Amino acid sequence: MKKITAAVALAAGVLSAAPVSAAWPERPITMIVPFAAGGPTDVVARIVAENMSRTLGQQIVIENVAGAGGTTGITRAAQSAPDGYTIAMGHMGTHGAAPAVYPDLKYDPVKDFAPIGLAAGTPIVIVARKDFPAKDLGAFVAALKAGGDKLNEAHAGTGSVSYTTCTLFNSLAGAKPTRVVYRGTGPALNDLVGGQVDYMCDQIVNLVPQIQAGTIKAYAVALAERSPALPDVPTTKEGGLPEFQVTAWNAIFAPKGTPPEIVKKLSDALLKALADAGTRRRLIDLGGDLSATWAQTPEGLHRLVESEVQRWNKVLKGTAPAAK
Ligand code: MLT
Repeated sequence: MKKITAAVALAAGVLSAAPVSAAWPERPITMIVPFAAGGPTDVVARIVAENMSRTLGQQIVIENVAGAGGTTGITRAAQSAPDGYTIAMGHMGTHGAAPAVYPDLKYDPVKDFAPIGLAAGTPIVIVARKDFPAKDLGAFVAALKAGGDKLNEAHAGTGSVSYTTCTLFNSLAGAKPTRVVYRGTGPALNDLVGGQVDYMCDQIVNLVPQIQAGTIKAYAVALAERSPALPDVPTTKEGGLPEFQVTAWNAIFAPKGTPPEIVKKLSDALLKALADAGTRRRLIDLGGDLSATWAQTPEGLHRLVESEVQRWNKVLKGTAPAAK
């Protein structure tokens, strides 16, 4: 009897010593998108996840967990079991700016994640409601100065990309608008199209179809060169505001402690997606920038996050009102 018990215990020991991740993934994977559906992070996540699902043989299901400039969803991801079944699409706000504006942030963007890789760079575009009277960026900046807090700027919460980049833009332009908070720039864009708000600084992947359809007005793309996705929209350099150049980014993270074999499988699936002609076309047609290949690996993304936390700390420290 004793022998049998010992044999069972030994077998159990052998079983538990086997890598738990060998057969991963055996069920669908949840990818947390920390903003409302239909916005730029959601768009990038759905395009990339569709291709990765095919490679992994399991569906990656998008779950939108919005709030607090993306930090609610990313906190949930950081605190999830590190078993590869919960990952997140973070971005320049959640993994760059957030520590500078949330003193009580519940995660450390560098230490609390196993980085998987950069999905896409997303240049910023300054857009306004379609009937905003200014004819170019210079006139728009003058109108912002004159309009003060009578003008409404939409953003996706303190620390989000739209918030941080428009904080920078407003200070360069001398604008002091009323800042209106949304759960993502997907819903903010709906209100911009409807004319309920005046302007925003948003990631290009959210905007190209609306700019092409003429339902919103684009004053400038915050790049040194025009974006191939919007060849008719001038750059901030052409428009007289060369200091405002910024490209945001969206990237995949797993919780810290995720087994290296799973990180490798996720990373390989992401790299395969980013090498796929159809997936690339969809991202590039929306203005996505896939040129920073160095950051598409776990090591590269780790370096990117480290430098972004430092960069945004310098830019934003002390600029944010009480974070909400
Ligand atoms: C979104 O998906 O809504 C955005 O990434 C929000 C933002 O950070 O501006």
